[in-house]
Amino acid sequence: MNILRFEDLVAQGKVAGQRVFIRADLNVPQDDAGNITEDTRVRASVPAIELALKAGAAVMVTSHLGRPTEGEFKLADSLAPVAKRLGELLGREVKLVSNWVDGVTVAHGDVVLLENCRLNKGEKKNDEVLARKLAALCDIFVNDAFGTAHRAEGTTYGIAQYAKVACAGPLLSAEIDALNKALAAPKRPLVAIVAGSKVSSKLTILEALSKKVDGLIVGGGIANTFMLAAGLKVGKSLVERDLVGAATAVIESMKARGAEVPIPEDVVVAEGVPSGKFDFGAFLAAAKPVVKAATDVADDDMILDIGPKTADKLATKLRSAGTVVWNGPMGVFEVAAFENGTRTIAKAIAESSAFSIAGGGDTLAAIAKYGIEKDVGYISTGGGAFLEVLEGKTLPAFEILQKRAAG
Ligand code: 3PG
Repeated sequence: MNILRFEDLVAQGKVAGQRVFIRADLNVPQDDAGNITEDTRVRASVPAIELALKAGAAVMVTSHLGRPTEGEFKLADSLAPVAKRLGELLGREVKLVSNWVDGVTVAHGDVVLLENCRLNKGEKKNDEVLARKLAALCDIFVNDAFGTAHRAEGTTYGIAQYAKVACAGPLLSAEIDALNKALAAPKRPLVAIVAGSKVSSKLTILEALSKKVDGLIVGGGIANTFMLAAGLKVGKSLVERDLVGAATAVIESMKARGAEVPIPEDVVVAEGVPSGKFDFGAFLAAAKPVVKAATDVADDDMILDIGPKTADKLATKLRSAGTVVWNGPMGVFEVAAFENGTRTIAKAIAESSAFSIAGGGDTLAAIAKYGIEKDVGYISTGGGAFLEVLEGKTLPAFEILQKRAAG
């Protein structure tokens, strides 16, 4: 991919004494008290910042956090917890700067974190006036936010249009290189796991993968819709009845290529789901896991995991795969009673000699829970961006960096 790379600029001595604006993706999960519950993205953003600092640049870093309303600051949208964590990782204080669009004071060799960029009016729509102001803050713009590379916003696209120099940071470069390498000529069989709650949020990826992969494993609520498409009952499980036709089309597309979408043959359910509205959290906490054949799901059952037989069969497939792409948990893995499917899959991926690529927030959480970080070939910091790369799309962040590199 023909893009300018920050590491090359550093090696060429072009960064010393420059004002460097780094767009990172520090959009991390937090608990109700605002504590960061998973900091992969913060850790992954450190190398670019350290590179710029060591080169003697004046460093500005920003990111979005969540999806706040532009122009309306709320404490919950603040990057303050991220500034603290970043400070710990860098071993220095990281000052958080608010209202920064019209000018930022930062010394060379120092770093500041600029408050949630999605609070700036015009960020999401990539407003030209805002983009030009952002570009004027720096000499070099570094996009290191792979997780947000599928968004054409002020800090991911517009600033790259107008900055004097626009380049890719080490994380952005590494992500796209690793994914392209793994997907250009993958060792076969290529098995993809697309799991999670809704078919609707992953339909385009399911359709795209059904034309490429040798095995397409579905899990979570997505599997329920596929079970329905296969003529099975799913009781009161999470399901999208209007997408049964789309699921059938994916199954047929795979069949036509001699590939398959394995449908669960057993499941773990919670019985006695009440009718009407109910407190799902309380229900889940009290739910007893019952293993059933997929053909035996009752009208008041809720499927919360794949069954042990299904999990073992899928694990066997994964162990003999050449390449595995993993996005999404197989069930409600946060609850011990319903984690077996996800744990079994995670262990199989870890034990498999296949090159494995994983991405997505829940997937990262599962990888951390089962301690298999070192056994996964490549862990992406992207969620939506990761999926769009798998679909074969050129992401806006790369498109503009390529344009700039072409002059
Ligand atoms: C993500 O968490 O996938 C990225 O940070 C992008 O967030 P967004 O979907 O709010 O743009």
